[in-house]
Amino acid sequence: MSGVALALLIGGGSENWPRKRWKERFARALPDHRIVLIPEDEADPASVRYAAVWLPPTGALSGFANLKAIFNLGAGVDALLGDPDLPRAPIVRAVSPDLTARMSEYVLLHVLMYHRQQQALEAAQKRRAWTAPYQWAAKELRAGVMGLGVLGLDAARKLQMVGFDVAGWSRSHKAVPDIRSFAGNDELGAFLARTDVLVALLPATPQTRGILNRKLFAQLARDGVLGGPVLINAGRGALQADEDILAALDEGVLLGATLDVFEREPLPESSPFWMHPKVRITPHNAADSDPDAIVEDIAEQIRAFERGGQLRNVVDPARGY
Ligand code: NDP
Ligand code: OXD
Repeated sequence: MSGVALALLIGGGSENWPRKRWKERFARALPDHRIVLIPEDEADPASVRYAAVWLPPTGALSGFANLKAIFNLGAGVDALLGDPDLPRAPIVRAVSPDLTARMSEYVLLHVLMYHRQQQALEAAQKRRAWTAPYQWAAKELRAGVMGLGVLGLDAARKLQMVGFDVAGWSRSHKAVPDIRSFAGNDELGAFLARTDVLVALLPATPQTRGILNRKLFAQLARDGVLGGPVLINAGRGALQADEDILAALDEGVLLGATLDVFEREPLPESSPFWMHPKVRITPHNAADSDPDAIVEDIAEQIRAFERGGQLRNVVDPARGY
């Protein structure tokens, strides 16, 4: 085994991040590298060439002066970029077909929940009522995906395959068959005006922070089959203005909200979102990073990098994603 070490730092305290499992998978995939789980394992900081991280405590990477790359075990890098003491090394974000497929499952599930009026059917069951509301066709529901990146694009394609009328909004235009592409602030209004179900899959950046706000909700379509617009946010909590979501729900500007991510996670017990009748909450598990899938990709990248190759999916810190 070489002295080249990969330091594994997994914070956040979430049960869906089994630290030992990640270490075991890295050790198996990179048998010639020493894998050190921080803070449990001893490591000479100078020997650490790579870090693989999820929500490491601020400043935790600052002692590793010889880092060649920081691999983020999730797709969103906002927490890392917010660390003022982060060493100057390329940041590689997680991109894997497994992660992408999981997110699309989540998006499909929740768009279908609204489309098939599942809440009304469950309420009818509780009343033992054999009654079904009028059901429209999928093509009559307009889904709008904010963020047509790796995750948004796949979700949009799968929504389109189900039959929904799909559009996407991103910084730059995309040429995707049967999906209408809107780009930039100039086209945001037109995108919102044709959207019944808004799916947010944007990264948290200075430009997107608080974008899901009262002003934006007011621009969503109000003439759709649902009777009003709904929001699904699986991007980041920082995108949403919580007070505005609650007000929009209470005033009927939004008919429902499905929220996977929050500014503060775990969502505090005192949050009014928990018990709100128009809100569905999931605990940031829209797309869990699977150790088998993510580690394999990182190991392959490290092997290629050590042969002189380029890293893939490197974040642009200036852009913030
Ligand atoms: P990508 O970097 O591939 O895509 C980001 C998309 O957002 C791009 O289409 C980009 O536009 C667009 N975008 C960024 N900034 C703006 C802006 N200011 N205005 C308009 N569009 C903008 O990211 P992924 O698809 O891989 O991931 C997206 C996010 O999903 C992650 O950053 C993370 O926060 C979240 N996520 C959540 C998970 C969960 O379990 N809830 C799991 C995994 C990720 P362009 O294409 O033009 O650059
Ligand atoms: C994320 C992830 O970025 O879990 O949220 O990948």
